[in-house]
Parts: sequence; C-alpha cells; structure tokens
Amino acid sequence: MIENNSSVVLQSEKVGILHYINMIRKFYKSILALSVAVSITIGYVAAQDSTSTASAAPAGGGDVAKGEALYKNNCAQCHATSAEVVVGPGLAGIEERRDYAWLKKWINNPMGVIASGDKYANELYEKYNKTQMTAFAAFGDDEVKAVLAYIKSANVAPVVVAAVSGAVAAPAETGGGTFINVILVALLIIMGLVLVALLGILQLLNRLSGADAVAAGTSVSFGEKLQASFKNIAANKTVRSAIVWAFILLATKATFDGMYGIGVHQGYAPKQPIAFSHKLHAGEMKINCAYCHTGVYKGKQSGIPSANICMNCHNAIKRESPEIQKIYTAIETNKPIEWVRVHNLPDLAYFNHAQHTNVGGLECKNCHGEIEKMEVVQQRSSLTMGWCIDCHRKSEVNGKDNGYYAKLMEAHSAVSKGAMKVQDNGGLECAKCHY
Ligand code: HEC
Ligand code: HEC
Ligand code: HEC
Ligand code: HEC
Ligand code: HEC
Ligand code: HEC
Repeated sequence: MIENNSSVVLQSEKVGILHYINMIRKFYKSILALSVAVSITIGYVAAQDSTSTASAAPAGGGDVAKGEALYKNNCAQCHATSAEVVVGPGLAGIEERRDYAWLKKWINNPMGVIASGDKYANELYEKYNKTQMTAFAAFGDDEVKAVLAYIKSANVAPVVVAAVSGAVAAPAETGGGTFINVILVALLIIMGLVLVALLGILQLLNRLSGADAVAAGTSVSFGEKLQASFKNIAANKTVRSAIVWAFILLATKATFDGMYGIGVHQGYAPKQPIAFSHKLHAGEMKINCAYCHTGVYKGKQSGIPSANICMNCHNAIKRESPEIQKIYTAIETNKPIEWVRVHNLPDLAYFNHAQHTNVGGLECKNCHGEIEKMEVVQQRSSLTMGWCIDCHRKSEVNGKDNGYYAKLMEAHSAVSKGAMKVQDNGGLECAKCHY
C-alpha cells in the first residue's frame, strides 16, 4: 500500500515536470517564431535600403543633409552634381580639380578670385563666356564643407550591402543610408546568434520531454521522410506563426513608409499658362510676396493673385507682349487664368499659412526654397507628414510678443529645462493636422 502510494506520487510528480517542460518548450517555440520573423523583416529592410542610393537617404547624414539643402537652394539652378554643364560646369570630382582653400575662396567671392589674376579661374571665366557666378560671402567652413560633402555623396555609386552574409564594407562618406544599413546588419547578426541559442535550448527541451525519442523510434523510408517533413513544415505551428509574424511586421513597415512618404512631388515644376517669373517680379523687382499672395499672413491659404493684381502694373507695362495679352484676354472674357497648382496636400491634411508665417515667424523659404530665384515655381520640400513632423520636433515655438504663449512657456519651463518645441505644444497630435 505504502509503496504503491509513493510511486503514484512519483508518477504524478514526473507528469507535472513533463507538463512544465512542455510549457517552456511551447514558449520557446513562439519566441523562436517571432525571432525568425524579426530576422526576415530586418533582412528584407536591409536589402531594400541598400539598393537605394545614398543621396536618396532622407534622414541623418548630418553634413550631407545640410549640404543638400544648401546646394538645392543656392547652386542647383546653375550647377549639376554630375559632369553635366548647366549654367556653370558640372561639379563632379571638383575636390580632385581644386583644393579646399581655393574652393572656399571661390565660393565666397568668385569675382575676387578672378580679379586676383588666378589663372585657372580666369580660364574658366572665359570658357563660360564671362558668366558671373553668384558670391556666397556668408558661407563659412561648415557650409562649404557640407556642400562639398553633398556633391561627393551624390557621385558615389549606390552601395549594395550583402544583407545576410554580415560581411559589410561600409564607406562612411555615403551618409545616412549606409549607417542605417550597418545597424540593420548588426541586428541581423545578433538575431542569428539568438536563433542559434534558442534552437539549442529547444533541442534540449525536446530531449527532456521525450518528443525526440518518439520520432527516433519509428523507422521510415527516405521518400516518406521527405514527404513527412514537408507536411511537417506546412503544419508546423512554429513555421506558420513565423510567417504570420513576418507578414505583420512587413505590413506595419509598409504602413509607416506610406504614412511618412505618400505622394512625394518634390521637384515638381509644371509649365504655367503665362510665363510669369518670380525671379523677375519677386527677385529683381523685389515685390513683396504678400502683395500678390494676400492671404499668407492672415489665413489658411496664401492664395494665387487674380488678374486684377497684375493689372495694377500691366495696364501700363508691356501691354503689347503676347504673354501680357493673355492677362487681358482673361479679364475681357471673365475667365480666370488657369494656373497649374504646384503645392498640394491631400484633403485629409490641414495646413495653415498664418499659423506658420505670422504666429511662428517662419519665412517662405523655410518651406518653399528661394522662390525669388525661380523662373518657374518648383516644389522644393517633400510636403510629406515626415517633413512636417521633423520640423515640429526641431523648431521652437515663437513666444516673442505673444501673451498667449507666455503662460504656456512658463508652465513648460516648470517641467522641462529645454526650450519649448512645437511638439511640446501638441505639434505631433494627429488631430492638429488631420480633420
Ligand atoms: C548664377 C549661377 C551660379 C550659381 C548660383 C552658382 N554658380 Fe558656381 N559657377 C557658375 C559659373 C558660370 C561658373 C564658371 C566660372 C565663371 O564663369 O564664373 C561656376 C564655377 C564654379 C566652380 C568651379 C568649377 C570648376 O569646374 O572648377 C565651383 C566649385 C562652383 N562654381 C561652386 C558653386 C557652388 C558650391 C554654388 C552654390 C553655393 C555655386 N557654384 C552657385 C555659376 C553659378
Ligand atoms: C507679382 C505677383 C507675385 C509675387 C510678388 C509673388 N508671387 Fe508667388 N505666385 C504668383 C503667381 C501668379 C503664381 C501662380 C503661377 C506660378 O506658379 O508661377 C504664384 C505661385 C507661387 C507659388 C506656388 C503656388 C502653388 O501652386 O503651389 C509659391 C509657393 C509662391 N508663389 C511663393 C511666392 C513667394 C515666396 C513670393 C515672394 C518671395 C512670391 N510668391 C511672390 C504671383 C506672385
Ligand atoms: C508691381 C508691378 C507688377 C505687377 C503687380 C506684375 N508685374 Fe509683371 N512685370 C512688371 C515689370 C516691370 C515687368 C518687366 C517689363 C520689362 O521687361 O520691361 C514685368 C514683366 C512681366 C512678364 C514678361 C513679359 C514679357 O513679355 O517680357 C510677364 C509674363 C508678367 N510680367 C506677368 C505678370 C503677371 C501674370 C502678373 C500678375 C500675377 C504680374 N506680371 C504682375 C511689373 C509687374
Ligand atoms: C519649417 C518648419 C515647419 C514645417 C515644415 C511645418 N511646420 Fe507646422 N509649425 C511650425 C512651427 C514653428 C509652429 C508653431 C507656431 C507657433 O505657434 O509659434 C507650427 C505649428 C503648427 C500647427 C499648430 C500646432 C499647435 O499645437 O499649435 C499645426 C497644426 C501645424 N504646424 C501643421 C503643419 C503641417 C500640416 C505641416 C506640413 C504640411 C507643417 N506644420 C510643417 C513649423 C513647421
Ligand atoms: C511651414 C511651411 C510653409 C511656410 C513657412 C510657407 N508655406 Fe506656402 N505652402 C506650404 C504648404 C504645405 C502648402 C500646400 C498647402 C495645401 O496644399 O493646402 C503651401 C502652399 C502655398 C501656396 C499655394 C496656394 C495655397 O495657398 O495653398 C502659395 C502661393 C504659398 N504657399 C506661398 C507662400 C508664401 C508667399 C509664404 C511666405 C510668406 C509661404 N507660402 C510660407 C508650406 C509653407
Ligand atoms: C504636423 C502635422 C501632422 C501630424 C501631427 C500628423 N500627420 Fe498624418 N499626415 C500629415 C500630412 C501633411 C499628410 C499628407 C502627406 C502625404 O500625403 O505624404 C499625412 C498623411 C497621413 C496618412 C496617409 C494618408 C493617406 O493618404 O493614405 C496617415 C495614415 C496619417 N497621416 C496618419 C496620422 C496619424 C495616425 C497621426 C498621429 C499619430 C498623424 N498622421 C499625425 C500631417 C500630419
């Protein structure tokens, strides 16, 4: 009796342990599935990112990103980053042609360098029919270096990173894209190690729980084995959940990509019905932007001027020009000029000009680039959600002469040492930008 009792106890104890081990085994299996999925996702993302060129990398890159902005706003109208001639020479390989000291002097004051009798500069000046390059006297070392770094990065061939092998040579000068890739590959290697460790533990647990013994005990032909293992793979919970997880992770990534970069029309510069030039009107004649875009400091929309505003001047100026005649026709036939819209957010997003220009104290060029230098208006910023949010993270709220903000800022400084950024004032809340 007594002996019997203790063996029952032993038995149930063993069952208890087995049950316990099985639970742990299942737990590790799900972790394994999740890790496989994460690895697949990271591998996929790394492979994807490595095929995009460094110049397309949106974030990070420090100097290169700064250089890109400076370049696009100041140099792009006259220079290509390739060898192609636009107004001035293509700038590919410029650092091999000229040393840094010369480049700095040149960019700060090209006419000065020419006047100093510099042989190279004078030959170039002749070659380009004495076209004068704009002087950028305000460019310090930081700016010049950033622009040069950008020109260089724009000429580096896309780096293809072997996503799975883990053996990566990462040239540092290619900027943001590659840096992210290095992190991704490092993650991939770590995930690989985790997978190996998990598999080891799982094998141990299998042996302890006796699952292996059953499998080893039955002998079958090779064909049957193969068939069975395919069936097993298809039926295997671990494999199935790995696939499901990979799918979920990839779908999430696609959604985020979509949210941050939908409908990017950067560089869009459609032909307009009348050859109106901002370079002439806003640049050379220095007509104030708000003279024509009357709503820009007051309301949501800047607005496009009606033909009547043009008539303030053109009822006397250049009446005989065929382009100006189009304005007359528009007024006579009472048909508005059909300007092609350049900047256009989707309906779901709300953007208010006055909030940014008047309240925020931002300048047009913060978002539109140097319109006063453009013959034809071009969209310079991406206008994506990521772009809005990025600036809201970086920009401080403009509290100057604003009684309403004074109290908010006081409250902010009570809880935080840093300056109050737009994000601290709800600038990242979905409802602020979405109806
Ligand atoms: C208005 C047009 C214009 C703008 C804007 C302009 N450049 Fe130039 N650049 C020229 C021309 C034209 C030349 C050729 C020399 C000459 O005619 O003065 C030149 C020459 C150069 C050279 C020497 C090229 C060589 O092959 O040796 C460099 C470097 C250069 N520019 C850099 C810049 C940078 C950087 C910017 C922007 C910050 C810029 N340029 C903006 C017109 C321009
Ligand atoms: C003399 C009138 C006039 C002045 C001054 C003027 N603009 Fe314009 N602007 C127009 C007209 C007309 C259009 C529509 C045609 C076009 O896109 O070129 C326009 C279009 C634009 C657009 C593109 C609108 C769209 O469709 O997305 C922007 C941005 C813009 N202007 C900014 C500015 C800025 C910044 C300034 C000042 C530096 C300025 N404008 C000065 C008349 C003017
Ligand atoms: C403040 C005065 C002023 C306003 C407002 C103005 N312009 Fe002009 N515009 C000028 C002057 C000055 C010229 C240069 C004439 C010249 O080349 O002699 C000019 C030139 C032009 C030209 C080039 C004509 C040619 O054949 O060379 C076009 C096109 C033009 N303007 C369109 C417009 C349109 C469209 C508007 C309204 C959105 C407008 N302008 C508003 C003053 C103005
Ligand atoms: C160049 C920087 C910059 C960009 C780009 C920018 N914003 Fe802003 N935004 C600001 C600043 C600065 C303020 C704060 C103005 C203030 O209240 O002082 C602001 C405020 C706002 C606010 C009010 C937030 C609040 O809580 O008061 C909204 C809404 C907004 N922005 C929407 C947008 C949208 C939509 C976009 C993109 C289409 C965008 N912004 C792009 C700088 C930017
Ligand atoms: C914070 C960024 C930002 C600043 C600063 C800014 N804009 Fe805009 N602008 C935009 C965005 C975003 C759009 C597209 C709006 C849309 O589609 O609803 C736009 C559209 C426009 C348009 C097209 C017509 C319209 O009203 O939608 C004009 C014209 C314009 N801006 C002129 C200006 C002028 C002039 C200034 C400076 C006084 C200025 N903008 C400052 C972001 C900005
Ligand atoms: C600072 C302004 C701003 C904030 C805050 C913001 N968004 Fe956006 N969002 C935009 C703009 C502008 C677009 C349109 C850009 C585009 O089409 O690329 C957009 C586009 C989207 C889209 C894509 C819609 C489509 O066309 O398919 C989604 C989804 C979205 N936002 C969700 C959100 C969510 C969720 C939040 C809150 C966590 C949020 N947004 C916060 C400005 C903002």
